[in-house]
Amino acid sequence: GVIIFNEGQPGEGAADRRTLLLGTLGAPTVNIPVVGTTYAVGEELAAAGTTVTLVTDTESDLNRKTHNVLAESRWGDPDKVVMAGSHLDSVVEGPGINDNGSGSAGVLETALKAGLFPTKNKLRFAFWGAEELGLLGSEHYVANLSAEEKAKIKLYLNFDMIASPNYTFGIYDGDDSDGVGAPAGPAGSDQIEKLFESYFKAIGEPYTGTDFTGRSDYGPFIEVGIPAGGLFTGAEGIKTAEEAAKFGGEAGVAYDKCYHLECDTIDNINDKALRVNTGAIATATFVYAYSSQLPGG
Ligand code: PHE
Ligand code: ZN
Ligand code: ZN
Ligand code: ZN
Repeated sequence: GVIIFNEGQPGEGAADRRTLLLGTLGAPTVNIPVVGTTYAVGEELAAAGTTVTLVTDTESDLNRKTHNVLAESRWGDPDKVVMAGSHLDSVVEGPGINDNGSGSAGVLETALKAGLFPTKNKLRFAFWGAEELGLLGSEHYVANLSAEEKAKIKLYLNFDMIASPNYTFGIYDGDDSDGVGAPAGPAGSDQIEKLFESYFKAIGEPYTGTDFTGRSDYGPFIEVGIPAGGLFTGAEGIKTAEEAAKFGGEAGVAYDKCYHLECDTIDNINDKALRVNTGAIATATFVYAYSSQLPGG
């Protein structure tokens, strides 16, 4: 499997910033050291045949430089860019394995595999820094896109917390039809939601609509009209009895009782959720890699 270590913020527990993944997609095994995670992720992607740019950018309020890692496949129409991303940082309080080693591992595994195929559209993978400080990495990236570059990005897929121990299979409610109080996203976001729904139907797993209010790195993208979608298995919210009947797990307990806490360790991962959602990331990425009808045109 893939072993990935989160960059994290400075502080206690740095040595524990690691999570172990499955190798579901047959991606090569990588072993990334605790120190310099951002660079190590970049090196692995480069070795897999993608072009990696290390973008040193965001200046956080901790007065520390953070980094976005952007990896782009060398094949595909450069005017039709399919993006997928996850944040690589964690909060200071804990190692951040479910939040967001889980999403990062799923995206990295997909990127390592997808980089091997000549696709119709260009694939670009983002590993954001400083999400926990207020979406700084993704904000910075989107704010610095020219109008021309912006128009080439046909969709953005986001993965932040995809293996919560008391999970539901949440799909961002891009069409605002799931009653979770989110505004509808840019046109085309509904199409992404439907693709994820068809994945869960195909494998016989239940799913539900979740928050699409911009509480993760897709926020800056939908703000400028780029269609987006993604997956989320739950944070501090409490699982209802209805959800427990549908997904299993424990009603009356948080989806992730270690959300933003020291106990967000390797033990705070639901292996089934991780495997199912990593499959969803790969499926959506490959569908859009070859699609001639992308959500953003
Ligand atoms: N962005 C939140 C975090 O990193 C988690 C989250 C993701 C919350 C998606 C809601 C929806 O802590
Ligand atoms: Zn968080
Ligand atoms: Zn997060
Ligand atoms: Zn919906």
